[in-house]
Amino acid sequence: MALLTSIVLRQKGMKVRYVVDRMTMPDVARVIEIERLAYPSTWPPSAYRKELQDNRWAHYIVLRDKQIAEMREAVPSEMDRQRKPRPFPLSLLPNRPTVTTLSPDLNSIVGFAGLWLMIDEAHITTIAMHPGFRRRGLGEFLLVNLIDIAYDIGARWVTLEVRVSNYTAQNLYRKYGFREAGLRHRYYSDNQEDALIMWTEEIASPAYKQKFLELKTTLYHKLETQ
Ligand SMILES: CC(C)(COP(=O)(O)OP(=O)(O)OC[C@H]1O[C@@H](n2cnc3c(N)ncnc32)[C@H](O)[C@@H]1OP(=O)(O)O)[C@@H](O)C(=O)NCCC(=O)NCCS
Repeated sequence: MALLTSIVLRQKGMKVRYVVDRMTMPDVARVIEIERLAYPSTWPPSAYRKELQDNRWAHYIVLRDKQIAEMREAVPSEMDRQRKPRPFPLSLLPNRPTVTTLSPDLNSIVGFAGLWLMIDEAHITTIAMHPGFRRRGLGEFLLVNLIDIAYDIGARWVTLEVRVSNYTAQNLYRKYGFREAGLRHRYYSDNQEDALIMWTEEIASPAYKQKFLELKTTLYHKLETQ
């Protein structure tokens, strides 16, 4: 298994703000928070835990903003100060501000993504950024990391389903060479929306590798300046 991007950058001695790591069980609470903000419907809370524990073909990653972690260590925020559990029954009163009990390192998670290897296809199951961190190239950074994983685990193609109305995500996928290959009718149970099925060409092809490298290089330059 090749090293993830963050680790490679760290080994080269670069100070990086955004770091991608493998998702672990303690990350799941924060992942679920972001999922609720990002998707109209969500997986059952147990799903990520099952994926991480039981699905050997699954690969899940989280994106951390190291600046958040560093700032919280230096100056505890009001939210941190409020973190003391409130005595019963005050905690049951309605309309109280939500006090998260997550550790600073968990709060630094701003996005996540995952895929399954199905024979020689890498099937992207999820990719989401916290709404406050969009349009900075970070969703793209997650996708790049997933495609790197796809190379690493020997996938020949990358595929996914996306809502027909989700032009934002479709733009991201098209940028990385995904093309429409069909529809799954009424795929999403919350509103019966159709899913577009999208595929890359063979990712080992010289043309795809070249395009991927160019896009990745441009993205890394962009992220370095943030
Ligand atoms: C899809 C998502 C992960 C993109 O994350 P992001 O960090 O905002 O995207 P980036 O800044 O990395 O943008 C990468 C590319 O995505 C596309 N894109 C992103 N936001 C866009 C927008 N508001 N309108 C149109 N295209 C957009 C563009 O192609 C962009 O490339 P560009 O910067 O060269 O124009 C994010 O919008 C999200 O979490 N959405 C909710 C969850 C979701 O729909 N996931 C996909 C499920 S299939």
